Amino acid sequence: MSNLSTRYMGLELKNPLVVSSCGLTKTVQGVQQAAEAGAGAIVLKSLFEEQINAELDELTQQSQHSGHTETYDYLQGFGRSFGPREYLQLVSDAKAAVSVPIVASINCVTAERWTEYAAKLAAAGADGLELNIGFLPNDSAISGVVIEERYLKILSAVRNEVTLPVALKIGPYFSSLAHLAKQLGNDRMNGPTFTVGWCGPGENDKDVTWKGADALVLFNRFYRFDIDVDKRRPSGGNPYSTSEELHVSLRWISLLAGRVACDLAATTGVHDGRDMIKQLLAGASVVQVCSTLYRNGLGQIGLILDQLEEWMQVHGYESTEDFRGQLSQVRSDDPGDYERLQYIKALVGIE
Ligand SMILES: Cc1cc2nc3c(=O)[nH]c(=O)nc-3n(C[C@H](O)[C@H](O)[C@H](O)COP(=O)(O)O)c2cc1C
Repeated sequence: MSNLSTRYMGLELKNPLVVSSCGLTKTVQGVQQAAEAGAGAIVLKSLFEEQINAELDELTQQSQHSGHTETYDYLQGFGRSFGPREYLQLVSDAKAAVSVPIVASINCVTAERWTEYAAKLAAAGADGLELNIGFLPNDSAISGVVIEERYLKILSAVRNEVTLPVALKIGPYFSSLAHLAKQLGNDRMNGPTFTVGWCGPGENDKDVTWKGADALVLFNRFYRFDIDVDKRRPSGGNPYSTSEELHVSLRWISLLAGRVACDLAATTGVHDGRDMIKQLLAGASVVQVCSTLYRNGLGQIGLILDQLEEWMQVHGYESTEDFRGQLSQVRSDDPGDYERLQYIKALVGIE
């Protein structure tokens, strides 16, 4: 038997396979099934910041961040079955039902009113909190710096509320992802420098009290925008990934592993044992899986773990620590291999 135990965001996991936040983890029954199938940890379906704010408003006023009546109507209806109160119940029931760590998840875009709710999640028994942050930077008046500071402020605001381990699930669309990732990490002596409307240390001073994220979850797979040419209106693309989509997170996990002061979790495109092994070699502490479970059922968890163990036995590894990060850039003799964006070898000579 190989040793698959893993430390992730300060939690002890029996293996590095985490069921990611999705519809499969929105009920106690779903959580129980995922645990029975062998998951090392489970991230609950996200509650939206707007739902928390709506409850704060006692569902009487329009949500601050949604000027869209249709969205508000939806949230009101949704709130009845899956609102903030029900979510706290889900956290405590899930904790009581399974022995693997339970990570609550909030989908958020601001550092405003909702953050007090984080303390309630901790009190309900959550082992950790994952913040799913992603907003479309489509306002030409807002610079990249301001957008990045928003991520840092959300993290900082939540940190002020809880001592729980916190993970940040983000997308890949930043102009300097490595810089942001380093700031989001837990590097106390090199906290971020805020420039806009920050009430911590003075403007342009380093925040030396900074406590960053315990983990970064790379990368969220955002709602796919598509256009239905027959109905001539916007539509959603396929909600499920394929293994082909592994490469973006694989590249960044391999570039960031060992360079940021926090754990890395890989999400998007992990469908089988080989995908998982790639991410662990690149330096991920854990992988998160979702689409493959929708496509193949929860039995896929055992299959992926069996494939991992088999590969470890073939290659003589006793524990995942023996090979984690072996193929990260920081440990490579040819770091340039990790930085190529253009297909020089493939393209030159083909014409
Ligand atoms: C039906 C469905 C619901 C999801 N709901 C959430 C959610 O509530 N919060 C979240 O952070 N991610 C959510 N996701 C994203 C997944 O957690 C995951 O990051 C994404 O699907 C990429 O991983 P995969 O390639 O393994 O599917 C959802 C995905 C699917 C398919």
